[in-house]
Amino acid sequence: SYVIVNDHFVVEDSGPQITHGGAPTLYNSPYKVALFTQDVESPGYLSLYFPNRTRLVLASVLPTLVLSIVFTGIILFCFWYTIQVIYRQKKLSEMKNDFINNMTHEFKTPIATISLAADSIGSPMIMSHPDKIKRFVDIIRQENRRMNSQVERVLQMAMIDKKDFQLNLDDLNLHEVIQQAVDNFSLQVEKRDGVLRTDLKAQRPVIEGDATHIASIIHNLLDNANKYSPENPDITISTRDVPMGVEVTVSDKGIGISKDARKHIFDKFYRVHTGNIHDVKGFGLGLSYVKAIMTAHKGLVDVKSEPGKGSSFILTFPKTVITQVEREMAERAIVEE
Ligand SMILES: Nc1ncnc2c1ncn2[C@@H]1O[C@H](COP(=O)(O)OP(=O)(O)OP(=O)(O)O)[C@@H](O)[C@H]1O
Ligand SMILES: [Mg+2]
Repeated sequence: SYVIVNDHFVVEDSGPQITHGGAPTLYNSPYKVALFTQDVESPGYLSLYFPNRTRLVLASVLPTLVLSIVFTGIILFCFWYTIQVIYRQKKLSEMKNDFINNMTHEFKTPIATISLAADSIGSPMIMSHPDKIKRFVDIIRQENRRMNSQVERVLQMAMIDKKDFQLNLDDLNLHEVIQQAVDNFSLQVEKRDGVLRTDLKAQRPVIEGDATHIASIIHNLLDNANKYSPENPDITISTRDVPMGVEVTVSDKGIGISKDARKHIFDKFYRVHTGNIHDVKGFGLGLSYVKAIMTAHKGLVDVKSEPGKGSSFILTFPKTVITQVEREMAERAIVEE
């Protein structure tokens, strides 16, 4: 016989000890203690039996379990995020260090050359030879120009960073700009027994753009093609019409760029860290400048490269709705009619 207290069975006597084929019941429950064992006659046992033990246990721990999983997740996420931030900062600081090293190096060379030239001019042996003095003065002037252009480049980047630059947009014949850049650059390539070819096929090379900046980005790409060709450079610059507008491609047969590096070359300060490439000095600013200028012109820049075989940098300038030259041609055609 039993009584029910708060929906639980309380067995009053030992009764028939029925077990259901070894299945847990109140009689063979493992949760069993003798009551008042100090008494002369113990009144009996207290046994507990849970018909749905697993469910009960689960139900009681479930909220805590879910919460702890959620919090562990949050903690893991924060940890991952922190590691990411630290990693990014580390890379950035490495890049900045590289930049400072490169910059000091790039400035040290001209400063040393200028100092040597100045010393030489000061020496009595040279003073009596005006032609020699002229040579040293030329060296000083050239090194000075080089330093100036370096400072200019860093300043240019800072300006682009602040986004306070304005494009002087004008109708611009890309072929003229390219030809000019090639003329200026060919000497450097020839000095290394290389070739610099042009293949200008675009029918509509006139775009709306900033002549100075565009000349500058073409120069940057030619400079890279030359710098990253260890043997005699073989550079081709070509143009063609594409549906979006005009495409300018600068290809070289140099060292090429790995797939991983390709993702970062347009980042500021990024330079590929491999072997002897670092004999070639630079700030890692050239391509980020190219990208910034192309974006400002609503154009695109892309790279195709195979390590060891060479690289091609592709600039796509958008079609201008109607350029001034075309407008004049159209007007002239109307007048002629
Ligand atoms: N034509 C190329 N062939 C192989 N690697 C290239 C080429 N152009 C760029 N790279 C790689 O991309 C990196 C970034 O180029 P970027 O022009 O931005 O910097 P840089 O040439 O090192 O320095 P800077 O142009 O500021 O003097 C280079 O350091 C180089 O590793
Ligand atoms: Mg460069």
